[in-house]
Formats: sequence, structure tokens, C-alpha cells
Amino acid sequence: MAYSRIPGVFPVLHGEGLTLREMCEEDLPAWFARLSDPEAAAMAGDSLATSMQDVVDGLAYHRNAFATKEALRWAIVPDSLGASVGSIGIVRLDEENLSGEIGAAVGRAHWGQGFATGATRLVVDYGFGVLGLERIEAVALASNGRSVRVLEKLGFTREGLLRGYRIVNGTRADFAIYGLLGSDWSMRATDSR
Ligand SMILES: CC(C)(COP(=O)(O)OP(=O)(O)OC[C@H]1O[C@@H](n2cnc3c(N)ncnc32)[C@H](O)[C@@H]1OP(=O)(O)O)[C@@H](O)C(=O)NCCC(=O)NCCS
Repeated sequence: MAYSRIPGVFPVLHGEGLTLREMCEEDLPAWFARLSDPEAAAMAGDSLATSMQDVVDGLAYHRNAFATKEALRWAIVPDSLGASVGSIGIVRLDEENLSGEIGAAVGRAHWGQGFATGATRLVVDYGFGVLGLERIEAVALASNGRSVRVLEKLGFTREGLLRGYRIVNGTRADFAIYGLLGSDWSMRATDSR
């Protein structure tokens, strides 16, 4: 379903020492490296990429999702590096309920430098401030400590356990669902002033 507040020109976001921009062909090699990393792909609940064609198809998918106003996926580019280290997206946008789901992935070589936290903060701000969302969700493999930590640092609340939610490496795995309301976020912004 289309979400009418997605703009016609791809939104570039700046802040947190990062630029979030539309994904493009130059991101494909790093993206392939990330998606062909078995542990990282399993942590994200993604299927393992086996050829460059998988990410070429992925790029076409994300471009189409933007063109049809269904979803947004940004490349995460630290200002200090000038190249993409991962990506972050907002999907399942629901105009009736003003909700959407966020998810990020960063290449293993860049883990632990705050990139996912900074990028999530920027996209959450954009989601509440510009897209007019009132609820943002995230679903993470329950055993994915890094992902859970990023969400909890930003004030997401763990709302439940989705038992056997997805098949990861051939086994049904539990995922945790997290939610953040616009009112939680504006309260945090007021508190930090
Ligand atoms: C999850 C992921 C996006 C995090 O990216 P990142 O840029 O490394 O995240 P950040 O550096 O912003 O924050 C990571 C936090 O997790 C903490 N952490 C690291 N290992 C951890 C572990 N095993 N358990 C709990 N917390 C952990 C870090 O210390 C840091 O917290 P801190 O700032 O309080 O020290 C990245 O690891 C990734 O892409 N993993 C594979 C794909 C994936 O899991 N995607 C998420 C789909 S929901």
C-alpha cells in the first residue's frame, strides 16, 4: 500500500556524523559482502546472498518500493568515510494507522561505532517529524543482543515475543517486537533539553 507522505524526491538525511542517502550501484559490493556473511544475514533474518545478482535485484526492489511510495531504504554513509557501511529502511508503512517498521544492517567491519544507533535516530526523527507516523516498530531476532541494545538505547519498548516468527538457518526462531510512539519520542526530546 502506498504511503502518500513519502516525497517524490528521495529524502537525504544529515546528522549524527552521517549522511543517509538513496542506495545506488556503488553500494553493491559492500552490500553483497554484508548479505553473504552467514552470521550477519542470520542475525537480521535475511536470506544469504549467493551472487551479485541478488543485490542487483535488491536495489531494483528498493527503487521500485520508493517509486510506488511503499517504503524507503537509505545507504548509511559516515561523513568520516564517505562510503556506505550499511543501510536502514522503513517499511510496512500504514497510512490508516500511521505506523511503520524500521530495520538496519551494518557491515561487520564497522560494528560497534554507533552507526546503527545514529542512523536509527535520524530515521525515527524523520518518521515522526516528516512522515507523520505515530508508531514505529522493529522486529529483532530475540537473541540478537546488538540489535536489541540499539533499540533499547533509543527508548523502544519491548512489547512481546513472536514465537517461531521466522525460519533462520532452517530453524524456526523467536523474534522480539519493539515499539516506539511519537509521544515517547517527543518526551525524550523534551527531557534532553
Ligand atoms: C545490529 C547492528 C545493525 C548494530 O549496528 P552497530 O552499528 O554495530 O550498532 P551500534 O554501534 O550503534 O550499537 C551497538 C550496541 O550494541 C552493544 N553490543 C555489542 N555486542 C553486544 C552483544 N553481544 N549483546 C548486547 N549488546 C552488544 C554495543 O556495545 C553497542 O552499545 P553501546 O553503545 O551501549 O556500547 C549490526 O550489528 C548488524 O548489522 N548486525 C547484523 C544484521 C542485524 O542484526 N540487523 C538488525 C536487524 S533487526
